[in-house]
Amino acid sequence: MIERNGLIMAWYHPGDAPPSFEIPELDDIAGEGFTDFYKSSYVIKTAIQEMGENSVDPAHFRYVHHTDEVAVCEEYTTDGPRSKMLSSQKYVTPQGVVDGRIDSFATGPGFSEVRFEMPGVVKAALLGCATPIDDETVEQRFNFKVEKTGDERMDSVIADAFVAEINKQLTEDIPIWEHKAHLEKPLLIDTDGPFMTYRKWASQFYAEPVGTQVVGPGT
Ligand SMILES: [Fe+2]
Repeated sequence: MIERNGLIMAWYHPGDAPPSFEIPELDDIAGEGFTDFYKSSYVIKTAIQEMGENSVDPAHFRYVHHTDEVAVCEEYTTDGPRSKMLSSQKYVTPQGVVDGRIDSFATGPGFSEVRFEMPGVVKAALLGCATPIDDETVEQRFNFKVEKTGDERMDSVIADAFVAEINKQLTEDIPIWEHKAHLEKPLLIDTDGPFMTYRKWASQFYAEPVGTQVVGPGT
């Protein structure tokens, strides 16, 4: 067990193998420039691999979350236990449409760092921690920080708005996660996200080799 980035992280392996990767230290958000964490947590009947597929599915933001614009995936790459998704996102703000970013960095199946940037408006970081409770249940915790603007009230308004949006999106995703079936060979088309690259990356985190087993409830 370690303390990292203000969070207590625990490693579990059914065969008692030692940790095979390290959670990165995010020094910038630990400093005075960012607020303390705004926290929320959810218990969801799914498997963490299924939840992660959300992040490589840009189209669902439009049709499930009703965002004005679909994020454009610029790069999705994996490197050992880490994966990286860089995307641009247009945001509708009171000042008009601005070009922003959503960049996600995962380390292992249970830790992700998502950076949001709306130029001239806000910079924020979300640390997502997923813990499997049993084969069909996940506790998902969100730890959210905003870059300080110098106006504490404004920081908390921005953070509350982000947390409300995350809560809204989770509420929309949960019925899908709790009912989706895992198809080993899904019918994908060219404009779908990099699902199979994600699955290949995720497969390394099972204690026993995977390939033919079915993941998640509702199957
Ligand atoms: Fe989603």
